[in-house]
Amino acid sequence: MHLLTLLQTVALLVAPVLSTPTTIFTVPGTLPNSWFENLAVRPNGKILATRGDAPEIWQIDPATSTGSLLVSVAGAYNLTGIAEVVPRKKHGKRPETYIFASAYIPAPFTVAPGSAKVWKLRFSSTGTPSVSLLTALPSAGFLNGVAAWTNHRVLISDTELESVYLMDVDTASYTTPLTNMTGINGIQTAPGYLYWANHLAASLSRRPVDGNVVPTGAVETLASGQNIDDFAIRVDSAGEGVAYIGAMYDNEVVEVEIDPAPSTGLGATSVVESNLSGSGFGLCTVVVFGRTSADSGLLYATVGQGGASASVVRITP
Ligand SMILES: *[C@@H]1O[C@H](CO)[C@@H](O)[C@H](O)[C@H]1NC(C)=O
Ligand SMILES: *[C@@H]1O[C@H](CO)[C@@H](O)[C@H](O)[C@H]1NC(C)=O
Ligand SMILES: *[C@@H]1O[C@H](CO)[C@@H](O)[C@H](O)[C@H]1NC(C)=O
Repeated sequence: MHLLTLLQTVALLVAPVLSTPTTIFTVPGTLPNSWFENLAVRPNGKILATRGDAPEIWQIDPATSTGSLLVSVAGAYNLTGIAEVVPRKKHGKRPETYIFASAYIPAPFTVAPGSAKVWKLRFSSTGTPSVSLLTALPSAGFLNGVAAWTNHRVLISDTELESVYLMDVDTASYTTPLTNMTGINGIQTAPGYLYWANHLAASLSRRPVDGNVVPTGAVETLASGQNIDDFAIRVDSAGEGVAYIGAMYDNEVVEVEIDPAPSTGLGATSVVESNLSGSGFGLCTVVVFGRTSADSGLLYATVGQGGASASVVRITP
């Protein structure tokens, strides 16, 4: 092997060149330790960010690197997961609709019993946002991840009760198709599959499920030994693709290669971005893909706490 090629190969192995995260928005003011819990990208490319330390949803425009408070949620304390869903038509229309969850988290890792609520955020045809309570869920523990499902339904993970609920987005009636999901945190779906993060086992898994999210096959573990919160997946119809993980207090984003289903083992992992906060420590809770032709190949991740205010950063994977 040519010496230069060898040196380059060694350099690649020893010090992978990471892209530089670009901070596109930081919550203004002096708010050390504020944090965003979850992100959803609108069809127009703007990012909705739920705050874990306040009952607020912020809207951030990656095209202009600007953002502002979109809605304050009266009757909530701390917001968690958010996902766009498909509601039933009303008067022939289907408004752009999101489901998000809330809890009262008076202190880190402390959830007030009975405080779980599920909310709806809708945009009118003129773009005006409105929030309404879909249902209080006092029997739930800690509602964490939210993901769209078929037929006007949404999946919500309950980290404390180790369950997944399947809820109708218009009536709030629900079933509990998955229990015993220890450590469940972020959830995502692909046709016929549920993907989930287990932050206690530090793993990413998936399982085939039927139309009502009842398991039809074995759990496949895709990554382990990996601190994990919410994540983004892009898989084809065979289940092959990639996941990008918000690695919590590791303050980094990690890529996982996903084999076609059923996967035969753990996928290769690599750090795509470290030191997200630029301070050496911080909390990365979620990664999402851009949604417009300009940014569908880019990732957006949150970073917060670590003595800094909640931010959204752009990453080129
Ligand atoms: C939860 O939200 C309240 C304000 O609604 C805030 O005082 C508290 O610090 C938040 N909890 C966490 C863990 O950020
Ligand atoms: C939950 O999982 C544990 C460990 O896999 C198993 O022993 C137990 O039987 C399960 N419980 C239920 C209700 O499925
Ligand atoms: C994180 O990034 C900042 C800004 O570039 C740098 O000063 C600091 O040394 C880095 N810390 C770590 C642990 O890489």
